[in-house]
Amino acid sequence: MCGIIGYIGKRKAVPVLLNGLHRLEYRGYDSAGIAVIEPVGNKIVIEKQVGKIKDLQEKLWDKRIDGHVGIGHSRWATHGEPSIENAHPHISQNGKFAIVHNGIIENYLELKKELEEKGYKFVSKTDTEVIAHLFEELYSGNIVETAVEVAKRLKGAYAVGVISSEEPDKLVAIKQGSPLIVGLGKDENFIASDIPAVLEYTKDFIVLDDGEIAVLTKDEVHVLDINGKPKEKKVLHVDWDVSVAEKAGYKHFMQKEIFEQPRALSDTIAGFNSNLNEELLNTLSNADRIYIIACGTSYHAGLVGKFWIEKFAKVPVEVDYASEFRYRDKVLTDKTVVFGISQSGETADTRFALLDAKKEGAKTVALVNVVGSSLSRESDHTLFTYSGPEIGVAATKTFTSQLAVLYLLALNLGKFRNIIDNRLFENLYESLLKVPSAIEEILKSDEKIKDIAYKYINAKDFLFLGRNINYPIALEGALKLKEISYIHAEGYPAGEMKHGPIALIDENLPVAVLAPIDKFYEKILSNIQEVKARKGKVISITTEGNKEIEKFSEDTIYIPKVEDVLYPFLTVIPLQLLSYHIATFLGKDVDQPRNLAKTVTVE
Ligand code: G6P
Repeated sequence: MCGIIGYIGKRKAVPVLLNGLHRLEYRGYDSAGIAVIEPVGNKIVIEKQVGKIKDLQEKLWDKRIDGHVGIGHSRWATHGEPSIENAHPHISQNGKFAIVHNGIIENYLELKKELEEKGYKFVSKTDTEVIAHLFEELYSGNIVETAVEVAKRLKGAYAVGVISSEEPDKLVAIKQGSPLIVGLGKDENFIASDIPAVLEYTKDFIVLDDGEIAVLTKDEVHVLDINGKPKEKKVLHVDWDVSVAEKAGYKHFMQKEIFEQPRALSDTIAGFNSNLNEELLNTLSNADRIYIIACGTSYHAGLVGKFWIEKFAKVPVEVDYASEFRYRDKVLTDKTVVFGISQSGETADTRFALLDAKKEGAKTVALVNVVGSSLSRESDHTLFTYSGPEIGVAATKTFTSQLAVLYLLALNLGKFRNIIDNRLFENLYESLLKVPSAIEEILKSDEKIKDIAYKYINAKDFLFLGRNINYPIALEGALKLKEISYIHAEGYPAGEMKHGPIALIDENLPVAVLAPIDKFYEKILSNIQEVKARKGKVISITTEGNKEIEKFSEDTIYIPKVEDVLYPFLTVIPLQLLSYHIATFLGKDVDQPRNLAKTVTVE
């Protein structure tokens, strides 16, 4: 994780770097820093601060840094605690090379030993510092050639930005494993960990592939392979508006993104067909099994997807945490499809599990939100959500968009395999089209949900229950609450409650129950009564018009009636809002919860 940015061009570098870092802060916020080459004397100036970008900004308030070439970093600590010494940029011993890095250098101990023997003194506990000293050690009078040599020595996953007072008109980047893009401007160019970081300045990008080195001057960008040979790269033009990376009147990105869901969903539904083709349907149709692999919220989308694919297309699906799947002895054949779901398309666990499966002969499919992300380029087929950039660390709009793609895929596969006929397909498709406005309806209950949230801010634990297709939503509700409010929460299949969690129930335990009126309603009502009998505080989420449930519930939140199979799109919305409000009442930083990062590029 960590976010990196670099600038070379006509503007002063500091505001561009700080701006970009603000947008990258979701990737890590343990410390931040910048390095800029000052025009007079070409000296590299470095400023770092423990904490968030605003703390670095305050530190820079009364400093004058005029340079037009610089790099910046926001850190999510892996090697070494958050401290000034461990904050990036790191500088070589002679002060002539400054480095920012995202990823992990796996052979850093070996390199460190070698460099120490040559007399280099290390000031940090990071793996990154070896890169700075390596640049100094291997410098041949040409920073590009040196970058080629440095890259050959590094093992692991990394995206690196480097500037040097020896060649102050260049910014060099190396990409291996961690994401890195180049932004193309007029009289200026950029590097960044993702597109929104520099969207304010350009809409034209080069997405670097593994093993590539980019050399930027104010006027030109060259991309080389790991041996220093020039490469042709496609320019990617994005038409995102910069406002997608701003809060647009909302208090938090998470809040904005919750409210954006009807739009994100409509865009995703509209874009679905453009990535569907016969070859993909054939691959899935012939699969002996589909393994959906993912992490965090994306994993929960996968669990819902399993219900739809098995129901409508009758292809067996297993869902696994990517980090578990990668290292277990699974049975893969050339007919097995491994289907990775990842908002960022960069999550290391998911990427490497998919790459391994590909090597073992399985077919791979990716479902991602970020255009140009690694997963999208490394898989045999890619499907996209069109949610736009998601900045809040806790996933919301990308989750419901992932659901939409999985639902549409299941319907299309079912039709392709003649499991569902055209009429049923049309009906089920039409029903999905009503979901965005149903979500709009639920969002109107925001104030009511906020009042309910206030009642539970002192809870120490929370239980979320659901059955069948809403069970994964119980898991997602618990994850959301944990992530942003730090209240312990568990999601459970309601029928399983009697086998353990029931022992936890007393008058202090809030229990959120997903109880839409579907074919499991009677059963879940019994579960509600079981909670009630033990004095638990029931928060019911049910279909509008269901007054009966109020008798057994402390609080009731209503959602519109839809087809049973579509309820996960709706039941999740009150849970997102509930977590959001509890966390904000508690004064937590919902967009950047402690210890988490949006994109986890380490295993
Ligand atoms: C991190 C984030 C979660 C996210 C998970 C998977 O843990 O904090 O919000 O669900 O990664 O991310 P991905 O980008 O692969 O969907």
